[in-house]
Amino acid sequence: MTSTPRTPHYSLRTANPAKTRAEAVVVGVLQGDKGPELASADEVGKAFGRKLRGLLASLGVTGKPGEVTRVPTGGTLSTPLLVLVGLGKEADAAGVRRAAGAAARAVPNATSVALALPAATAELVRAVTEGHLLGSYTFTTYKKGDDTKEKAPSEVVVLTPAARRKEVVAAFEEAQVVAGAVATVRNWVNTAPGDLTPPLFADAVAAAAKEVAKGAPLTTTVYDEEQLAELGCGGIIAVGKGSAAPPRLVELVYEPKEPVAHLALVGKGITFDSGGLTLKPGNSMAWMKSDMHGAATVVQATLAIATLGLPVKVSTFVPMAENMVSGTALKPGDVVVHYGGKTTEAQNMDAEGRLILADALVRATEAEPDAIIDVATLTGAMVVALGDRITGVMGSDDVVGGVLAAAGTAGEQAWHMPIPEIMEERVRSSKVADLMQVDWVRWGGGLYAAAFLREFTAGLPWAHLDIAGPSFNNGSAYGHVTPGGTGVGVATLVDYARALG
Ligand code: BES
Ligand code: ZN
Ligand code: MN
Repeated sequence: MTSTPRTPHYSLRTANPAKTRAEAVVVGVLQGDKGPELASADEVGKAFGRKLRGLLASLGVTGKPGEVTRVPTGGTLSTPLLVLVGLGKEADAAGVRRAAGAAARAVPNATSVALALPAATAELVRAVTEGHLLGSYTFTTYKKGDDTKEKAPSEVVVLTPAARRKEVVAAFEEAQVVAGAVATVRNWVNTAPGDLTPPLFADAVAAAAKEVAKGAPLTTTVYDEEQLAELGCGGIIAVGKGSAAPPRLVELVYEPKEPVAHLALVGKGITFDSGGLTLKPGNSMAWMKSDMHGAATVVQATLAIATLGLPVKVSTFVPMAENMVSGTALKPGDVVVHYGGKTTEAQNMDAEGRLILADALVRATEAEPDAIIDVATLTGAMVVALGDRITGVMGSDDVVGGVLAAAGTAGEQAWHMPIPEIMEERVRSSKVADLMQVDWVRWGGGLYAAAFLREFTAGLPWAHLDIAGPSFNNGSAYGHVTPGGTGVGVATLVDYARALG
């Protein structure tokens, strides 16, 4: 199920922002040492002339990030409306992406908008395009009487002095692919959990992959509960067996000719996390439809990489289950036999993510990739540590370093967290099985989880992204991040693959 807002047409143009024929023109404002100053679009500044400084002062414009001011131009410009958006102190890609996102919501009823934000480089053009596309995202699937469906502009022009440069055009087109992938992640996360059970989620993934496979060497395999039992995916079965909706495992392989590297991706696909018999309190359960964000992220990153035709082979493993309470649910003390044979003593049914990821990680190692990256809404402890906007990254130094660099170019915030040496001893401390799922120590719970996952990576280069915090925005929109599922991780993974290629 997807939402169906009108999608505007985006174009790239070199034009005078004071003379463009759109209904609104968006210009960035910097927080300068001597007060606010226009960051781009000199022609707009010239058209207002000396009046500009006084005008900005009386409107209270400061240029601080996220600030939006609408100015009727009264004929000074060809556009009736000037939208000033704050960039903060520097016109860097992160600030421009955020400003473009805020601007997207500033003029909901304009039918055409020109974006005259700083866009002299490919990196900035990408930031403007992604920021605007993502900032204007709405989810209207269940809003039957709502009028937001008609509120997107039909024409968006990205103004840049470099509209004819090849790498700028490429960045503009790639930004639209990535933003489309992020929007689909948001749609899947925002969909009601009853409408996105594991079988329905697997169907949605297969349908999306089929579209991309028309133009790229991409194959999809879906394993149902019987095939999972035959394979011996005991973790996925164990978590899924408490639900009326059976579990799934989806595997995608994108194999371009002469790939320069082979990347394996694994994503947590818990379509709803009640906590199982270790039931969550009601307020902790409220947003647990988002517990499949990691799965959505790796799927959409794979499809974007295939659509862009990056020269990297990608093997993607997506375990899906619904963590519920019933007479058939997994119990404390149960021993899970994972794919590949390792065993885990299960004690906390709310630590279900690591159980399904373990099977998928072992399958990933069998593909013999150069690196494995898993993405998961894994622990509340990581949210306590890093807050709700930053991804925690753990694993082998080389892959972690690559992920942090990619997050930087993608404009996503990520932070390296350690896996303390003592954790290995703790995850191997079960008296009845190979591994102990949890040891009830709350401190550093996100790091314990990473140490547990590492047991299934066969020593291959690997990074684990805990996105429990940044995957869901409970508040109102900020910059290009809208309420609900955020789509975090897609841009980082695509940039990681791009850097390999
Ligand atoms: N899906 C949750 C983690 C989560 C918490 C995601 C908050 C998003 C926001 C995960 O399955 C979970 O319940 N983890 C437990 C692990 C614990 C039992 C070791 C947690 O963090 O409490
Ligand atoms: Zn969970
Ligand atoms: Mn849980």
